[in-house]
Amino acid sequence: MGKVTYIDEANIENKRVLLRVDYNVSLNEDKSEIADDARISQSLPTIEYLLKNHNKIILVSHLDRPKTRDPKLSLKIVCERLKKYLPHMKIKLIDDFLTEDKKTFENQKPDEIFVLENIRFYLEEKNDDPDFAKKLAALADVYVNDAFAVSHRPAASVVGVPALIPCFGGLLLKSEIEMIGKAIDDPKKPLVAIIGGSKISTKIALIHKLVEIADYVLLGGGLANVFFRAQRHPIGKSICEYEMVQEARKLLYFAAQKNTAIILPTDVVIGDPNNKEKGGIDVRVGDKIPADMMILDIGPETQARFGAVIAKAGTIIWNGPVGLFENPNYKQGTDFIYYAIAHNTDAVSIVGGGDTLAAISKKEYLDKITHISTGGGAMLEFIENGTLPGIEALKR
Ligand code: 3PG
Repeated sequence: MGKVTYIDEANIENKRVLLRVDYNVSLNEDKSEIADDARISQSLPTIEYLLKNHNKIILVSHLDRPKTRDPKLSLKIVCERLKKYLPHMKIKLIDDFLTEDKKTFENQKPDEIFVLENIRFYLEEKNDDPDFAKKLAALADVYVNDAFAVSHRPAASVVGVPALIPCFGGLLLKSEIEMIGKAIDDPKKPLVAIIGGSKISTKIALIHKLVEIADYVLLGGGLANVFFRAQRHPIGKSICEYEMVQEARKLLYFAAQKNTAIILPTDVVIGDPNNKEKGGIDVRVGDKIPADMMILDIGPETQARFGAVIAKAGTIIWNGPVGLFENPNYKQGTDFIYYAIAHNTDAVSIVGGGDTLAAISKKEYLDKITHISTGGGAMLEFIENGTLPGIEALKR
């Protein structure tokens, strides 16, 4: 079995550390600016901890999904942000570690942090190429994974390198595993999960797992439409993965067996997704929906019903917006969910997924959330399986 040793449980001093972080930050539309740098700021405790113990750090991260070397996806922009957070350090971007003079690494100064250029510029990363992993591992004495958000990807910098040199978990990885792990293994009851987002196919395994462990599963967003169709309710031209309708029926049946309440919206807001001028119309689920209209948000009655369940929760897990939040007419439901979670201060609350955080407008309540996960897909897979390939790779 083995277990992960975290950096604050080990004596890592005067070492060259290859630190895998997830700086896959969201960028603005033309990719010239960072839209949200939480993944950078949340990696700072590990960086500072390692620096305090006189280690030299080489950071490794990916950004987006480049097919080849794409200057728009350089980590330069991340280096600039790191400089702001660590003004006492020199941040040096290593354009190509494979061809870089060995002396650069040998002569790294204590006040220098090296950042390897986007690791996905190397196609060997994705397939965990053993030679590539060896070359990465050769740069350092120890490997630290502080990249929970990419630990579901069995890539060279996630699972290959830790097999080759002493390896540890970082402080962010530790808090993600502890917080989410506790919420699923030993939750303060009742456990309430709110799952939104557009596609059910990417979340079906998660919902299945939640039905097993939660007391209430509240569903909204595009994925709820599949459940409406499972009950033969009209949905107009709303998005819907029709091939998943039968799966949704099975889930409803499974929930009944497990005594878990799957709660679906009873009213929804319908309209035209592209019209920002005209607001939507509230209708009851089951009512006829004009053929040219789409379901775009949960309605006020549903907000109140969901809110009442959230108010009595002991543990809350939220992933995915419940409406088309990009159009201000259809973000009320998502804002309300956030409001309700933030106001249940007795509950342990865990919010994750990049789109969930992007959807929240009143960021001032963020400190009322117990744990904001940096993981999107990783958080979902961790809840489903209780572990991730990158975590397993650290176990000794
Ligand atoms: C994420 O943003 O979820 C992680 O960085 C993983 O990115 P990926 O889905 O492109 O592998």
